[in-house]
Amino acid sequence: MTTSKRDLLALTDLSTAEMRALLRRAAELKHMQKAGNCPTPLVGRSLAMVFEKASTRTRVSFDVGMRQLGGHPLMLRGDELQLGRGESAADTAQVLGRYVDGIMVRTFGHDKIEALAEHSPVPVINALTDRLHPCQILADLQTCAEAFGDDALPGLRVAWIGDGNNVAHSWINAAWVLGFELRLACPEGYEPNPAVLEPAVRAGARVSVVRAPAAAAEGAHVVTTDVWASMGQEQEQKVREQAFAGYQVDAALMAHARDDAIFLHCLPAHRGEEVTAEVIDGPRSRIFDEAENRLHAQKAVLEWLLGGRPLIG
Ligand code: CP
Ligand code: NVA
Repeated sequence: MTTSKRDLLALTDLSTAEMRALLRRAAELKHMQKAGNCPTPLVGRSLAMVFEKASTRTRVSFDVGMRQLGGHPLMLRGDELQLGRGESAADTAQVLGRYVDGIMVRTFGHDKIEALAEHSPVPVINALTDRLHPCQILADLQTCAEAFGDDALPGLRVAWIGDGNNVAHSWINAAWVLGFELRLACPEGYEPNPAVLEPAVRAGARVSVVRAPAAAAEGAHVVTTDVWASMGQEQEQKVREQAFAGYQVDAALMAHARDDAIFLHCLPAHRGEEVTAEVIDGPRSRIFDEAENRLHAQKAVLEWLLGGRPLIG
């Protein structure tokens, strides 16, 4: 195991300056891609993409992003790997690390990705666990920077409506690293995990949990939400529909936000549940820019972790 290896398991793995630099590079890469001059620093490099859950955006954006950078992605379904038959994360990480230059993982327990990262000689990138979804929030922040300007990020007020889930947790980490204000409106019993929330609050992050969605949305630049039942929680759908009644993002809730507020959703979405069609398909919605930015933000991550491009200096 090398000591200098970096991973991206959580946004708190980045310093404030690193996150700002990563977002600026993501914007540059987007511009270069659209101008037809994407750099190819990853020629001869490979990324193992381990998926133990379904994916559309993450799978395609990492695959295409690696190819655009000149590298080679390998799609590895968890149930086709020996990992799915009980081979340890430690052995899997050490073996994959003999073949590839980076490992991207989407799995259930966060402890599994931590074990992979601990034993992997190459960088490990979190592509969603039950606890966190850092790559999603990098793309969301890139979308915020496009709407309000890069310099506006630390002064943003972001409203999270609904489940205190993996995506909400990465918003908490981002608020901690960048310093913006985050208000989460969650029903009782569905608040963020204290293991994520409390260290941020103790460190002075401007993060608060409220009960009323309108209180979170008041004066917000960004209103965002996610499904009521995440992957692995499908059997709780009915109970959750009852718990989250009153937590739908609709036009009346958006009216509490700033006039220039944008709506974000990581997707996939359930219109008529966590958000109305009027809002998600309306003029304030930036959901497809947000989905596109997964590609550009992750290319900045890949260039840094697999290409050795320093984020700063
Ligand atoms: N937002 C997101 O991660 O989408 P996928 O599950 O389709 O990858
Ligand atoms: N919270 C959702 C996000 C999907 C991208 C889930 O974990 O299923």
